[in-house]
This record gives sequence, C-alpha cells and structure tokens, in this order.
Amino acid sequence: MNIGIPRSTDDGELRVAIVPETAQRLKKLGLDVIVETGAGAAAGFSDDDYTHAGATIASSAADVFARADAIAIVHAPNDETFGHLRKGQMLFAVIRPLTEHDLVKRLADAGVTAIAMDMMPRISRAQKMDVLSSMSTIAGYKGVLLAAAELTKMFPMMMTAAGTITPAKVLILGAGVAGLQAIATARRLGAVVEAFDVRPAVKEQVESLGARFVEVAAPQADAEDAGGYAKEMSEDYKRKQGELVDKHARESDIVISTALIPGKKAPILISAETVRGMKSGAVIMDLAAEGGGNCELTKLGERVVEKGVVILGPRNLPSSVPFHASQMFSRNVGAFLQDLTKEGKIRLSEEDECVVGTVITQDGEVKHARVREMMGLPPLVAAEGSPA
Ligand code: NAI
Repeated sequence: MNIGIPRSTDDGELRVAIVPETAQRLKKLGLDVIVETGAGAAAGFSDDDYTHAGATIASSAADVFARADAIAIVHAPNDETFGHLRKGQMLFAVIRPLTEHDLVKRLADAGVTAIAMDMMPRISRAQKMDVLSSMSTIAGYKGVLLAAAELTKMFPMMMTAAGTITPAKVLILGAGVAGLQAIATARRLGAVVEAFDVRPAVKEQVESLGARFVEVAAPQADAEDAGGYAKEMSEDYKRKQGELVDKHARESDIVISTALIPGKKAPILISAETVRGMKSGAVIMDLAAEGGGNCELTKLGERVVEKGVVILGPRNLPSSVPFHASQMFSRNVGAFLQDLTKEGKIRLSEEDECVVGTVITQDGEVKHARVREMMGLPPLVAAEGSPA
C-alpha cells in the first residue's frame, strides 16, 4: 500500500506528518511512502532526506493524492486540497470531530475513511500514538519560553554584586500534559512554581516536578471522566476556584493556563477583574486560546495589554518548533500504522479499541458513536460483533 504525504497548505503550518525516519520504518512494514516535493522543507527535512529513507518524491499534491491508498497530514485537508481526496481513501490527520461537524459531514459524503489522530483513546497501549500529548508537550515548553521573553524580569534567583534578584513566580492552571511540561520548563529556568488542577490525582505529579499544588478546599469528587479528562465543574466549585485563582494570580509574574474540556469551550479561569488586580508587567500565556481561552480577555493570535498585564493567546505553538513537532507527530502516526499493518496492508479491525476510537467516517457514514451523538444522528445499527 502507498502512504501519501502532501505538503501542508494551512497558513503558518510548518509541520509535516511523516519524517524520513518514520518513512524508513514504514518501508520495512511493506508500506511505500510518496512525499510531495518540499513537504518537509519548513521542518528541516529535504527531499533528499526522504529519498535516502526509501520514499518517492511526487511533484504535486494532486499526484500524491492520486497515487496514495492512505494520506497522512497534520490537519485535515483544507478547501484547496479537499477535492483531491477520493472515495475509500484513508486519511490520518487531526480532525477535531467533536466540534468540526461540517468537516465530518464533508468527509463522510466524500466516502473518505477519516481517522482522527486526536481521538486516540487514553489507554497505556496508545500512549506512543497520542499526538495530543506530543503537541501539548511542545506547547507547554514553548509557552513558558515565550512568556519568559515577554517578562520584564528574569526567572532565576541570582546573588550578584548588585544585590539579590528574587526568582520569578509562575502559576500554572491545568496540570495535564502541557501544564506538567510548563512546570518542568519554568523550574529548569529557576522560577518558583505553583500549579492548580481540578483533578486532585495530579497533586503528586506536580509536587514531583518541584512545584506547589494549589487546591480548592473541597475538591469535586467526580472531576475526572473514565478517559482521564476533566469534566465541567459545578457552579459552587467554579466560584471557589475563581477566588483561589484570583488570590494566586495577583502574586504571580506569569500565569500559564492550559485547562481544556474535550468537546466543550475551555473554562474561564482568569476573569477580567483578576487580570486588573495582577502586577503591572505580569504575563498571561493562554495555551487554551484555540479552545476559546482560559482568560476572559484573551484574543486568539493577538497580544492584549490590560492595565500593564500582557495576555498572549498564540495559535498553533507546536508549529513554531517544526522539527521536533513533526518528529513526534510522525512517530505517533508511525506507531499506529505499525499496529494496523499486517503483511503490507493497513487493516482497520473493529476489535481494536484504537480503531473504534479514531475512525470517524467510513463507507459514506459517520461511524463514530460519540461523534454521531454530538451531531444529532441516530446510532448506527451495528452488525453483530461490531462496536459501532
Ligand atoms: P487536557 O488538555 O484535556 O486538559 C489540560 C488540563 O486542564 C487537565 O489536567 C485538566 O484536568 C485541566 N482542567 C480542566 N478543567 C480545568 C479547570 N476548570 N481548572 C483547572 N484545570 C482544569 O488534558 P491532557 O493534558 O490531554 O491530559 C488529561 C489526562 O490524560 C492526564 O491525566 C494525562 O496524564 C492523561 N493522558 C493519558 C494518556 C494515555 O494513557 N494514553 C495520554 C495522554 C494523557
């Protein structure tokens, strides 16, 4: 079978879905990789690197799509490339099917077998295939660096001839994958770090990274769903949390917020009033900006200044580290393809939890039970033994 790697044509997207190292591994599985010329260039991978890895270079996106049985791309195709997709073709990409219902419908109508890498179940076996974790790791790291560059202060404590410089205080809201990486990065730079999460289970991880865990006095017992994700909190909890965040944000130089709830708008954790009570020169790095933002004043892709407090809500941070972001994304997709490939053929077995969790459309239907429910579609009548 052939795997096609088109060049991303999305604005500001520098990543490529499969890097040469993975192309070489796929070749050993009996899968041929066809790469659009220049697809890896922005991430630091030349056509020659792909050729040495055993891949074939195609001169255009149209050629890649025409020859490939499966396409791997970071984001689902945009209007420009959508028309190249054909019936029965597999597509491995970040699709955001819980919210992008028009796209899901379009993929179903086109007869594409759309596999959403961002819907990988949170089970041990799937850790190596989890693109959300990989990209969150990068966002957590880069978010701290960008916030540090905005700050009018330095991070570490310094004992100098000009006196002692006190360390920066960093508050992390949401200690999932991005938040934990942000804690580690801020600690490495010498900051004093506090972190808050609705899931009390993360306390130990926060403390093991050298940060202090900040808790609401009576945590909500059912803060976490079966998949390890946070749930939406009660009004009473939100009020107590608002007060706690307000108190700690006022003392902080940097607030990094990462709180997300899958399929819902990100929770507002930092009110406009809290921002106005923060120190002038403080920085808020809202890593949830693409999900609607954790700060009331965040504007996606913009730099907002409110009473001397800088609020950043960057788009697509992983793409700003394109080499490693591509490498991690590619290793995740490669690990999934390795699991799926038997005798040189990709097989989507409905016995496989990862397949059931990620296949969104197939044979002209929206296949995924949760996505169907969210789109208001009736459940599919499952064939015997089928999980759909
Ligand atoms: P996420 O990106 O959905 O959310 C980020 C963090 O924000 C989470 O820790 C969440 O609890 C927190 N949050 C949500 N609402 C909040 C609020 N109102 N206030 C404060 N914090 C709030 O989550 P992420 O980072 O993707 O990971 C969630 C969990 O899944 C983690 O425990 C992680 O270790 C686990 N995981 C498991 C994997 C596997 O087993 N294959 C792979 C990746 C993550």
